[in-house]
Amino acid sequence: MAIQKVGVVGCGLMGSGIAQVSASAGFPTVVCEVSPEVLAKGLASIQKFLQGGVEKGKVPPYVMDKTLANLRGTTKLEELADCDLVVEAIIENIGAKRELLGKLDALAKPGATFASNTSSLSITEMSTFVKRPERVIGLHFFNPVPLMKLVEVVRTVKTDGTALQEANAWCMAVGKTVVSCGDSTGFVVNRLLVPYMVDAIRVFEEGLASRDDIDNAMKLGCGYPMGPLFLTDYVGLDTTAYICEIMLNAFQEPRFAAPPLLKRMVAEGKFGRKSGRGFYDWSTNPPS
Ligand code: 3HC
Repeated sequence: MAIQKVGVVGCGLMGSGIAQVSASAGFPTVVCEVSPEVLAKGLASIQKFLQGGVEKGKVPPYVMDKTLANLRGTTKLEELADCDLVVEAIIENIGAKRELLGKLDALAKPGATFASNTSSLSITEMSTFVKRPERVIGLHFFNPVPLMKLVEVVRTVKTDGTALQEANAWCMAVGKTVVSCGDSTGFVVNRLLVPYMVDAIRVFEEGLASRDDIDNAMKLGCGYPMGPLFLTDYVGLDTTAYICEIMLNAFQEPRFAAPPLLKRMVAEGKFGRKSGRGFYDWSTNPPS
């Protein structure tokens, strides 16, 4: 296994999940955040998920112990210098990614691969920020990372075949199934999922059916685990609106445009699960 040690930058929703699955699979994993407070929050969410898994009988206690032993948090990017793979899961802002990749390029060992968990920004553009474009790939995980089985492995025209094979092997080692994909905005999943989610919002906005009927229609009629409005809350309305903007910009197709209701709810601070309010009220359990 070429990848032995893993770095993750960002310990939010996605970064914490990526760090967790990496550490659970036995890879020494260093996760870096901007401040001790944000880092502590991310590490606590990993602990909570593992504890929940132990209580449900899904995670053997020794796996929880092994995961936590393999995991180290830091606020110093230099501590990722000896990693073979660094996965970034920071804010979806190309300027922030440029700054991070430039710093990583200067400190990471030669031959280390840089992966972005971006959902919609260009991996090709990111590869221009470093002196090792052949070692830049996309590794797009899905929320909740420990439970969702897929990783989209994204290559650019410059990606080295060995880097790709090593990343594929690591994804499989952390228990995921890999889908290979070229570098086009939204890759496969968001290209198909985002128009579906925003169409559901349009159907709701038009008053064609109630929230619960729309969600039940897709759950019971198509066997989806969550209805589209519940899923939009789960992903985050702000995140969904942001992805819409990037996809509309890339494809110039109205089907990617954020519906007025989505924009209005984001403006009102209704981001879904993360803010406690979206199409559902997340202060109750289950959301109502
Ligand atoms: N540790 C280990 N296992 C756990 C666990 C934990 N803390 N919590 C739950 N589990 C296990 C459960 O025991 C259960 O296992 P089983 O199937 O063997 O019984 C399984 O995980 C499912 O958990 P639950 O029964 O508690 O919950 P659900 O059945 O409702 O499933 C879900 C939850 C997996 C999130 C499911 O609802 C789902 O798949 N939803 C769709 C999520 C989705 O579409 N995500 C993608 C979003 S798009 C994205 O991320 C891309 C981005 O770019 C926008």
